[in-house]
Amino acid sequence: MLALDLEDSDRNNLIRRSCEMLGAVGKFICAVKINRQLVLSLGLRDGVDTIVELVHDLSLPAIMDAKLNDVGHTNQFMTRSYIDTGFDGIIASPVAGWEGGLDSVFQLTSSLGKGVILLIYMSNPGAETLYSLKTEPADGKPRPVFELFAEMAVQWKASGVIVGATKPDIISRVRKLVGPDMGIFSPGVGVQGGDAGKAIAAGADYLIVGRSIYDAADPSDAARRHREMAM
Ligand code: C5P
Repeated sequence: MLALDLEDSDRNNLIRRSCEMLGAVGKFICAVKINRQLVLSLGLRDGVDTIVELVHDLSLPAIMDAKLNDVGHTNQFMTRSYIDTGFDGIIASPVAGWEGGLDSVFQLTSSLGKGVILLIYMSNPGAETLYSLKTEPADGKPRPVFELFAEMAVQWKASGVIVGATKPDIISRVRKLVGPDMGIFSPGVGVQGGDAGKAIAAGADYLIVGRSIYDAADPSDAARRHREMAM
């Protein structure tokens, strides 16, 4: 999955470069993930929506990396806005919990046939502070926060989960918790230090790759190589 996080202070350049990048790598990727770089630079209407359209022209799904994590009505507004822009799926963070938090996201997306991918573990070095924190839940079985998140993904019927490629041991543990059928998406390959082979061997199904593709001298070749690593 390409993380299309291009930055450019010139709006037209940004749209042109995004389109060129999609044209160059489209045949080697399975989906496109858009983050706040494009949303904040272009806006959703007459901006990101044109890029989402191009993604669909390539017969690929477009995923919004919103990391939704707010109270229900705000989550619901954001979810509707992204869906109206054409996105097929949205990434949410489970930190807000179900009631009055993520319930609105799952209910709205499922009523419209869209997906939610749940963020289980970040890929940055500081992620451990929260995600590996040991908890003592009411069921009396102490376990780290990320394990609770993985259990929520199953319970809430998420379409997939995200675990950083920088943490292969965590990917293995999450695979055990979510079972064989849940897609594990793994960002953090290359620039962030994650090893694609180790992430896949640990149980990831998809790599999410940004800078190692779009900043490469030959993005098309970089995308092809990353695709091979994921197979
Ligand atoms: O350029 P790079 O390949 O590091 O980009 C990774 C993308 O995945 C970015 O859009 C980043 O925000 C996102 N991401 C991540 N780690 C997570 C979740 C999302 O790097 N755990």
